[in-house]
Amino acid sequence: MLIDGPVAIELDDGTRVESDRFVVAVCTCRRSKNYPLCDTSHRAKRRPSQSSED
Ligand code: FES
Repeated sequence: MLIDGPVAIELDDGTRVESDRFVVAVCTCRRSKNYPLCDTSHRAKRRPSQSSED
């Protein structure tokens, strides 16, 4: 999810994450190694299908 920055995000454990970018990508899939910021881990690595219609 892209939101206008700068942002300050407070996690459930009280940790505060800040970003001063103009646009901030916030992770909504929880796969990011840089959670709560998106690191593009949401992009599934899929094998190309043999047919577009499967
Ligand atoms: S939305 Fe979770 S890694 Fe991008």
